Amino acid sequence: MNNFIKRKGIILAGGVGSRLHPLTQVISKQLLPVFDKPMIYYPLSTLMLAGIREIAIISTPQDLPKFKKLLGSGKQWGLKLKYIKQTKPNGIAEAFILAKDFIKNDPCCLILGDNIYHGNNLTKILREANEDQDNSTVFTYQVKDPERFGILTLNKDGLPSKIQEKPKLPKSNLAITGLYFFPKNVSVRAKKLKPSKRGELEISDLNAGYLKDKKLRVKILNRGFTWLDTGTFDSLLEASNFISLIQNRQNTIVACPEEIAFMNGWIKKSDLIKISKSMKNSYSSYLEALLKK
Ligand code: DAU
Repeated sequence: MNNFIKRKGIILAGGVGSRLHPLTQVISKQLLPVFDKPMIYYPLSTLMLAGIREIAIISTPQDLPKFKKLLGSGKQWGLKLKYIKQTKPNGIAEAFILAKDFIKNDPCCLILGDNIYHGNNLTKILREANEDQDNSTVFTYQVKDPERFGILTLNKDGLPSKIQEKPKLPKSNLAITGLYFFPKNVSVRAKKLKPSKRGELEISDLNAGYLKDKKLRVKILNRGFTWLDTGTFDSLLEASNFISLIQNRQNTIVACPEEIAFMNGWIKKSDLIKISKSMKNSYSSYLEALLKK
């Protein structure tokens, strides 16, 4: 069994999803399928790859029961899941205030429920970030539409100098993606934030605070890496097509919690057999094949 740093995980899966209406009128965006699995499996798998086992899912009071039905206690994957309500989308950084009692005195990692990470060395990159308990770590990715994201500007020496949420005139095309590692006491910092002009507790303001205190590490996800957010009809379809293409070409499953739990030593062969017997499709065949490895 791998020994990982004790870090709490949070998946933020609330919001109104209005950009995807009518698709998200009665179902949460993060429960929509991305090819062969619900969207939340992807961020969940990312946290598991980092070695994180205690995870809180934050969502709206109406959607939370559906997440609970899908993911349960997490025991089937060797996880401990907790469910926390967010009554209004008051901003991403509010997650740390809502999850204060869950985080306790541990470092924490937050991932947005609609962010998908896939690429070479992902596990290594995540575990390195997990190991650093004194600093925060963010991951940047080059994008063509920087005005849609939290943006990191570098100074002339190539060092991080500024973080802005959705700047009208972006000075760089480095988006800060929806995965954030923080040292302990992030809830105390989040509590001190003031709502932005749009009335939200901004994750970019929280990150800017760590940058100011020289406690922010930046990892660049290079062009060989894939980071997808699934906020529009087109990007949702593109994500499904991307996962289908990779999986069919390689005969693998991207973001398979059973596989990661098994590889991490969190579940046994008998657990995998039980899960594979509960389905009869390409997913269960994949689990059966894992047993023979
Ligand atoms: O995807 C990366 C980007 O995510 C970052 O570059 C930005 O800095 C960050 O603000 C965020 O931008 P978005 O425009 O994607 O934020 P959005 O309001 O769409 O929220 C992202 C997800 O988090 C979305 O699936 C809904 C959920 N959410 C959001 C808020 C504000 C919540 O569950 N609760 C909230 O209060």
